[in-house]
Amino acid sequence: MNTNNIRSTILKKIKPTADERTLLSTVADELIEKINSTAFTKNIPGVSAKLVGSAARGTWISGTHDLDIFITFPEETSREELEEFGLSIAREIAKDAERSEERYAEHPYINMRYRDFDVDLVPCFRVSSADKIKSAVDRTPFHNEFIKQNINGLEDDVLLLKQLMRGGGVYGSELRTQGFSGYLTELLVIHHGSFEKVLECACDWKPELVIDIKEHGSLKHTDPLIVVDPTDPKRNVAAALSLDNFSRFIDISRSFIQDPTEEMFFLPPALELTDHEFIERLNMRKSAIVAVVFKTPDVVDDILYPQLYKMEQATAALLDDYDFTVIKTGSWAGDYVVVLLELMTSTLPDVKKHVGPPVWVRAHAEMFKSKYEGADDVFSMYIEDGRYVVEIPRKYIDAKGLIEARLGMCSLGKQITASVSEGFEVLEGEGILREKESGFRVFLRGWI
Ligand code: UTP
Ligand code: MN
Repeated sequence: MNTNNIRSTILKKIKPTADERTLLSTVADELIEKINSTAFTKNIPGVSAKLVGSAARGTWISGTHDLDIFITFPEETSREELEEFGLSIAREIAKDAERSEERYAEHPYINMRYRDFDVDLVPCFRVSSADKIKSAVDRTPFHNEFIKQNINGLEDDVLLLKQLMRGGGVYGSELRTQGFSGYLTELLVIHHGSFEKVLECACDWKPELVIDIKEHGSLKHTDPLIVVDPTDPKRNVAAALSLDNFSRFIDISRSFIQDPTEEMFFLPPALELTDHEFIERLNMRKSAIVAVVFKTPDVVDDILYPQLYKMEQATAALLDDYDFTVIKTGSWAGDYVVVLLELMTSTLPDVKKHVGPPVWVRAHAEMFKSKYEGADDVFSMYIEDGRYVVEIPRKYIDAKGLIEARLGMCSLGKQITASVSEGFEVLEGEGILREKESGFRVFLRGWI
């Protein structure tokens, strides 16, 4: 398919219809009106509600009914007042919601389902310029103004880029995904001038690439991609982007330029891996798969996922320290966390080769020799490449035993440590099939 055909095929599927747009503005206006009148009734002066985010900029994808509504307060409001008044207004609005939940980012906000929309009600300070922000969310209204003034009819290009990134699994700046945020895709389109041009340029991206639209020129970083925020020169808009997602996007861009297809824009259907398929794959790979399973701690994703990634690394390092060779790791969280490790082999021989000091480093060499000489569990001692070598029994001959004995000593995140210390299990090979959660099986299909 050529690029023009792709554009129109995809846009037909992702561009909101007139009805959808009308519904969105009706619901947004209704909420804004309610917030302003609630502030009036509660006698809280200077409050003004505002729709921000992609819904306010015409860059939202059909079907994603997400509204970002900011409850803005005058700059001189104290943080305590902002939290108290902001939440008291938001709670009042949430009384009419289908469900609602208070969440804590840098400060509290309310997420609710309202007339089938996923709504964030976020209190923020209405500061006079972005360098005066008092909390991270205060930047958002400035982003809004910048995009509205500079988008110049390129909304469709943003939609296409967001959707392609979704299809490639690299869209979303939350710590679980570590991908591209909506604002970042908008800036890329504005900077390069079109969806296609972004992809053409990305084919040649290299890490530490700097994009500085307003030529602020002040930001020093070693991130894979540095996009200086046009509204706040100290901020890298791409700070959350991981090296792997940066690289995946280069890969996606090259495939697209070479042969654009509709499939690239959509994630493959979520399909569970069956017991039979798992066993078949195990038999083919002939590696060893080990899983650590424990109850998922009750924390938000932005806390959970960084701890999970850290745990994958810590567990792999533990195995490596004890001579197991790790091929790859992965993790998934539902009711239970499953940390998966693929190893070259999950058992090692009893004998372990332990290399000592060079013979000519006399004091060390003599100490080493006297420690092992005559000990009854030493298989043998000899000199190799000028060093003493002993062959001794290995402390942990299987990965499961090692993890059971030493996982508790690994440095894990706070909430994961707490959950692991209440109990965990190590499953091996087909034993992993005990985990039946559907999401886990879908994850497993992509992992192994
Ligand atoms: P959203 O995550 O809802 O993004 O954040 P979005 O731009 O509306 O894109 P969609 O919803 O995926 O289409 C709302 C606003 O918060 C700020 C941006 O200004 C964004 O428009 N934000 C959010 C950031 O600056 N950085 C982030 O990582 C996330
Ligand atoms: Mn949004």
